[in-house]
Amino acid sequence: MLEKLETIEREALAALGGVEGADDLLRWKQRWLGKSSELTQAMTELPELDPAERHQAGRRVNEIKTGLEQAHAGRAEALRTQAVARSLEREQIDVTLPGRPQPVGRLHPSTQVLRQMLAAWRQMGFEVYRSREVETDELNFGLLNMPEHHPARDMWDTFYTTKPAVIMRTHTSPGQIHVMRERAPAPIRVVLPGMCYRYEQISARTEIQFNQLEGLAIGRHITFADLKGTLIAFAERMFGAGVRTRFRASHFPFTEPSAEFDVECFVCGGQGCSVCKKTGWLEILGSGMVHPVVLRNGGYDPELYSGFAFGMGPERIKMLQHRIDDIRYFWANDLRFLEQF
Ligand code: PHE
Repeated sequence: MLEKLETIEREALAALGGVEGADDLLRWKQRWLGKSSELTQAMTELPELDPAERHQAGRRVNEIKTGLEQAHAGRAEALRTQAVARSLEREQIDVTLPGRPQPVGRLHPSTQVLRQMLAAWRQMGFEVYRSREVETDELNFGLLNMPEHHPARDMWDTFYTTKPAVIMRTHTSPGQIHVMRERAPAPIRVVLPGMCYRYEQISARTEIQFNQLEGLAIGRHITFADLKGTLIAFAERMFGAGVRTRFRASHFPFTEPSAEFDVECFVCGGQGCSVCKKTGWLEILGSGMVHPVVLRNGGYDPELYSGFAFGMGPERIKMLQHRIDDIRYFWANDLRFLEQF
């Protein structure tokens, strides 16, 4: 019996030396320490021995069992250490390599310039008022002092929908009526940004969609001087203090008087170049005092209230700032263009 035990111990330890992975180790444990292992078997045979031998064999069985368990634990630990060492070896990282650049998203150039403009207006106390892109003929034209068949409508080539009298807004000005009707007779200081649509021949200078930023101020005693001062203050915030500006008489059916507003060409500094077509000036918006008919349509008594309005094109301003020579880039979704901003 004692001899048999010694053999078991020797063979078990020898086998353990050849164990490689975790599966192997488990199999080894079942084979040498499990229920049907030779060692367990030997334990069941102990009672059959005579007392002297039983005592000695019993002690050996326990010693061997503890020894094998310890050897097993030792081997498990060694295997773990080995695995870690191997993976460290294999997955070495070179911290001196340059990092992989993460592509970072950015705002569309139109959104960028719109936000810049809104920031300037916010500083001057104007809040943003959002208005819909699909309008009725009445709001886009009629209530803005352009009754049906009025030739002034020709200034805006219009997309009609299949629903009679429902159109895509050709400018943000119908928002004036919305906000006035909502707030009358309270004073108003709002800017209305958003997309407009025109049935245009698409070219380097004209697109069928573009943003506008409308502005509207309504209250008591608002004068043309307020309009001029406010627009000049905006130009200074947008293009830098001291920028030269000028007003030119113009005409819109919904303002009276009306004026176009130019800033000094920031490309040539007023010298005259291809961007300003040799004039030294860049036109950036149309404006005027809100027409009495429009005030009345908005719910304000023109005897008591007055106001001014203006409308500008963010894409146009972005084009001037960056000398972009073709408006079609804005909606062509060409990353070579968009990634430059
Ligand atoms: N709505 C005009 C346009 O689209 C611009 C404008 C707005 C003019 C407000 C005067 C007052 O051209």
